[in-house]
Amino acid sequence: MTADAAGRIAGKVALVTGAGAGIGRAVAERFVAEGAYVVAGDIDADALKSLVDALGEERVAVASCDVTVEADVEALVALAVERFGGLDVAVANAGGGTASELVDHDYAAWQRVVNLCLNGTFLTVKHAGAAMKQSGRGGSIVNLASLNAVQAGRGMGAYCSAKAGVVALTEVAALELGRHGVRVNAVLPGLVRTKATGGMWHVPGVVEEYVENAPLGRFAEPEEVANVVLFLASDEAGFVSGSQYGVDGGARTGRYPDLIGAMQRLSGS
Ligand SMILES: NC(=O)c1ccc[n+]([C@@H]2O[C@H](COP(=O)([O-])OP(=O)(O)OC[C@H]3O[C@@H](n4cnc5c(N)ncnc54)[C@H](O)[C@@H]3O)[C@@H](O)[C@H]2O)c1
Repeated sequence: MTADAAGRIAGKVALVTGAGAGIGRAVAERFVAEGAYVVAGDIDADALKSLVDALGEERVAVASCDVTVEADVEALVALAVERFGGLDVAVANAGGGTASELVDHDYAAWQRVVNLCLNGTFLTVKHAGAAMKQSGRGGSIVNLASLNAVQAGRGMGAYCSAKAGVVALTEVAALELGRHGVRVNAVLPGLVRTKATGGMWHVPGVVEEYVENAPLGRFAEPEEVANVVLFLASDEAGFVSGSQYGVDGGARTGRYPDLIGAMQRLSGS
């Protein structure tokens, strides 16, 4: 589908954080293919340039945006209003984790993960939600949580905690913003092949363990997560709010791979 054809979110203005790579980029591409205007933020300038080169300046506006810096997030929301006349959809996507058991966890590293995943999502919800409330035209906010919000992973304490926080934040936001016509939902992907998870393919056994535990017997590609984000962003999900959508091949029914054990086996410790 071209950008000019009618699409599932045709004419809507959508903000995506961490849009330069992985799931965020797949969401931005799918949104444009479905007729939306996208405002993309990321800390990686080259990745943003490549996104505009691929999708065109008519449909995409980009800005350097670190989601942990409130002024950056505020400016990204303002850009949507200035450039495309409003904000209908916001995807709080930027996030990432570490691998360390709790008793060994460096505190600064813990704080970085919580700051990126939880505080960054809070700032996106805060400023996108304020713009949607003020406009009076409602909207849809989609937060990228994780399977690890609801399934423990050894060595993933900071990430699991932050993502569980994202689920709680999503519910409070849905409660508070519903009266303004704003829906807020969380997407909980399992293992998706992106830059963030690239390292897992270099630790023998981790991906295999995920695949073995997922009833559908495989990991996901970013486009499969973008499909669910698109649904939640669209009017098809008009009565969906405060919900958690797993995109994990059923892996919630099993157990998460032992990343630390696999790393220890690799290093011989
Ligand atoms: N890949 C997975 O298996 C998986 C699984 C569950 C949840 N998730 C979640 O999905 C989201 C996207 O993950 P991904 O795998 O596509 O990651 P990725 O690393 O491939 O891409 C993340 C993008 O965010 C950008 N970014 C990093 N820090 C930022 C910051 N402070 N401000 C703005 N942008 C920043 C990066 O430059 C990059 O372009 C994250 O919230 C992640 O936790 C991913």
